[in-house]
Amino acid sequence: MSKTNRIKLLLDLTTFVAFLIAMDPRSLGIAVHEWLTIALAGTIVVHLLLNWGWIVEVTKRLFAKGKGLNGSRVNYILNWAMFIDGVLIMLSGIMISQAVMPSMGIVLPESFGWRGLHSFSTNLFMLGLGLHVALHWNWIVSTSKRLFVRKVKQTPVVVMSLDRKDVQA
Ligand code: HEM
Ligand code: HEM
Repeated sequence: MSKTNRIKLLLDLTTFVAFLIAMDPRSLGIAVHEWLTIALAGTIVVHLLLNWGWIVEVTKRLFAKGKGLNGSRVNYILNWAMFIDGVLIMLSGIMISQAVMPSMGIVLPESFGWRGLHSFSTNLFMLGLGLHVALHWNWIVSTSKRLFVRKVKQTPVVVMSLDRKDVQA
């Protein structure tokens, strides 16, 4: 398996687990929630950089005359929707921050809908992520098998014939 695929899979798994932890902010405390999700944004940036070739290729195809997206349309639209939603999550999170922003001396006033927007955009992201994972399920399964399931070395079986005519008794 290529080194890039191995890195991609481990990063995707880590990001997925971190996302699930982030969805329950009260269990580890708000401070952990905030620092963890900022790190999570970093892993998403790496995720996008590792898939940069795909992003450039599909965007070029979108603007090239006569060329279609060849089945990548759903992925492309969904990826953009997740990107925009991800920005909303981070922005609303920063606006209601109780740890990261105060630690930098910035205290933002409590205002109307940021909390609601934070909650709504994270729920929407869950939905998008479910689809994103489903669309890449074949890749996840085949790459995991190659990474985690060890190949059983087969010992060659030597079959000896007992009634060979060239062997003198
Ligand atoms: C918890 C977060 C995420 C997980 C677990 C995840 C998982 C995956 C997996 C398994 C793949 C296929 C293998 C690979 O290239 O790594 C993939 C591809 C991709 N993901 Fe994600 N992803 C996540 C978040 C995102 C977000 C937020 C975006 C967009 C902003 C995104 C954009 C892409 C792109 C552009 C590709 C390659 C093109 C494609 O086939 O769709 N991913 N992702
Ligand atoms: C991937 C990114 C994030 C996810 C998935 C996420 C998820 C969540 C969820 C599910 C809640 C509970 C909402 C509710 O009770 O209705 C929450 C609350 C909260 N989040 Fe995030 N969040 C993220 C990023 C951030 C960031 C970057 C910050 C700030 C820097 C932040 C600050 C907060 C705060 C302060 C609360 C508590 C609000 C309250 O007191 O009820 N979050 N987050």
